[in-house]
Formats: sequence, C-alpha cells, structure tokens
Amino acid sequence: MSSEETILSVTDLSLELRTENGYVPLLQDLSFRMEKGKVLALVGESGCGKSVCSMALTKLLPKDLFRFTGGEVLFESRNLLTLASKELESIRGRNISYVFQEPFSSLDPLQKIGDQMTEGFLIHSMGSRKEGEEKAEYLLSSVGITDVKLRMNSYPHQLSGGILQRVSIAAALMCDPKLLIADEPTSALDVTVQAQLVELLLKLKDTFGLSVLFISHDFGLVSHIADRICVLYAGRIAEIGSTDSVIEMPSHPYTRDLLNSLPSRFAATGTFRTIEGRVPPPGSYPKGCHYQNRCSSAFDRCESSKPNLLVAGSPDHYSACYLLSNQGETE
Ligand SMILES: Nc1ncnc2c1ncn2[C@@H]1O[C@H](COP(=O)(O)OP(=O)(O)OP(=O)(O)O)[C@@H](O)[C@H]1O
Ligand SMILES: [Mg+2]
Repeated sequence: MSSEETILSVTDLSLELRTENGYVPLLQDLSFRMEKGKVLALVGESGCGKSVCSMALTKLLPKDLFRFTGGEVLFESRNLLTLASKELESIRGRNISYVFQEPFSSLDPLQKIGDQMTEGFLIHSMGSRKEGEEKAEYLLSSVGITDVKLRMNSYPHQLSGGILQRVSIAAALMCDPKLLIADEPTSALDVTVQAQLVELLLKLKDTFGLSVLFISHDFGLVSHIADRICVLYAGRIAEIGSTDSVIEMPSHPYTRDLLNSLPSRFAATGTFRTIEGRVPPPGSYPKGCHYQNRCSSAFDRCESSKPNLLVAGSPDHYSACYLLSNQGETE
C-alpha cells in the first residue's frame, strides 16, 4: 500500500440494472482508491461500465433503473452512498465535479456562458455574484480562452466544440472541487484539440491540486495523463496499478489484448490484433471470469469461479486472473 493521501476510497461497490427480466448485476465488487493530486484513469472497451461507475460514485444514476447492492464510497471519511441527499448535493458540483464527453449535455443552451458559470457558484454559496463573475473570467482565461468578456456573453451554440469543452472544464472548477471526474472529455474533439485539452488538464491539476478520475477507452491518451490505471471489464476490475507498471508489465490477458490492439503497437511490432467478440452486457455475464470467452489463456477454473484481485508483481499492482499465483495478497 502506498503512503499517499487518499481522497476517495471505493470498497466492494456493486450495483444492479433493472431489465425486462428483473435486476441483473452491472458493477461487481469494485475496490479502488484515489490519491490526492493524482490522476486515476478508468479504461476499458465501450459498455464495460466506466460511465456507470463514475456516476455511481455520487449517486447520479436514475433511481428507477439502478440499485446499489453493496459497498461504500468514502470521500473525506464520509460514505457518499449513505449520505442524506441534501448533504450529497452539497458535495456534488462543489467538492466533486464532472466534465462529460458532450459539453452540450452539461451546458444550458438558453443561458449565457457567464450566467451559467456563476449560477453554481451562487447555489453553493461560494461568494457574491461579482466574485463569481470575476472567478469565471479568471478560470476562462486559465483554460486558454481569449476575449473572455465576449465569451461570457455568448450562448453555447455560438462557440466551437473545443472552446465549449474548455468552458465546461472552467465551469467544473468554479467551486474549487477536490475531485474532477472527466468522462471521455476529449473524445468528441479532433486530435489536435484533444492533445491541447489533455495538456490543459495536467496543468490545472498541478495549479489547483486536483485529483482527477479520467475516463477513456484510449490507452495512448491515458498513458500520457494518468498516474494509475484501472482496467474495467464487464463491470469488474481486471487490473489496477501504476501507469508504468500496467503498460510495461500488463498482467491480465484483457489488458494485454487492449494494448496489442493499439495502432502504435502495430507500428512498433508489425502485429495488430483487434479483440474478437464483444463485451457481454449486464444480464449476460458468464459465471466465472467475465473475460473467459475472449481470452486465449482461459482454462477450466476460469469458467467456474470469478478471480479476485491479487498482487501482480510490483507493489500496488493487482490483477484478477487465475494465471497469477493464488498465494498473493488481495487488494
Ligand atoms: N440508462 C441505462 N439503461 C440501460 N442500460 C444502461 C444504462 N446505462 C448504462 N447501461 C448499460 O450498462 C453497461 C455499462 O455502460 P456504460 O455506459 O457505463 O459503459 P462505458 O464503459 O461508459 O462505455 P462507453 O465507452 O461507450 O462510454 C452497458 O451495457 C450499457 O448498455
Ligand atoms: Mg461511457
């Protein structure tokens, strides 16, 4: 275990999704922790549960579709899953804020940028309207926006996607959050703007001492931004560890397959393999290891029970695979 200060600690988080056939497991026994001032990336193919996991942390999921079946999410020693909704609302948007893939989903099309940025600031009683406006101007220029006064008076549809995503990052910082959850914040943007925004996030992390949960299915991007990587597969953690350790010594076959399917690996090795098959949806998870049907190393035991996270070589690197010795310490 590392001695870094923990800002968020998730233990055995499990939740179910309501389907026509009743409730089925979606997230199973997720345990991970986030360190202050560090970036943890959540990676995995589409449908692995990255967004559901990030929204579950502050109970942002619709109550009629999802139910929690266990676990806790400790943020500054308080379990967010059992807090009264008023207390949770005072944390959400203030101490923990979100940036989503589509800036339009978090910005109101009918309100000027400046007004909506100050609104959250006023709701959370962070200061006066004038102070809110000054902070919005400061943050907009911190995220590299020029003509700040003009942008403050613009409506979202008057700005480009890249500028809007900068605006949503600035808006997410209005209440001095400690934890920023960024769900594919750059994947709708072209590569150049994507690179600029990743640099920006790294700079903001240092300037504001932010901890960041960065969600992406792009391993290349993640290797650049993250201190630690958590690989999710069909609602379970396949592997978690420091970025260097996971990328240089991937220990779960799923992580290895993901890395081998990167275009940059193709350039380096001449072998490029996409992973055959698809992520099973909730309701169709296999009995044993969720990756067994796509895994070239699967054996009998993988079909009968689910592997737990075990120490995978280097300290603070865990992998849920029976290929590892079962003598290891569990996370
Ligand atoms: N509101 C919902 N109603 C029904 N099923 C849902 C809902 N939200 C998520 N799911 C299902 O839960 C699973 C996990 O979805 P999630 O959106 O978390 O995946 P993801 O890893 O974020 O994928 P992507 O990379 O495409 O964003 C998927 O099978 C998805 O279809
Ligand atoms: Mg998602």
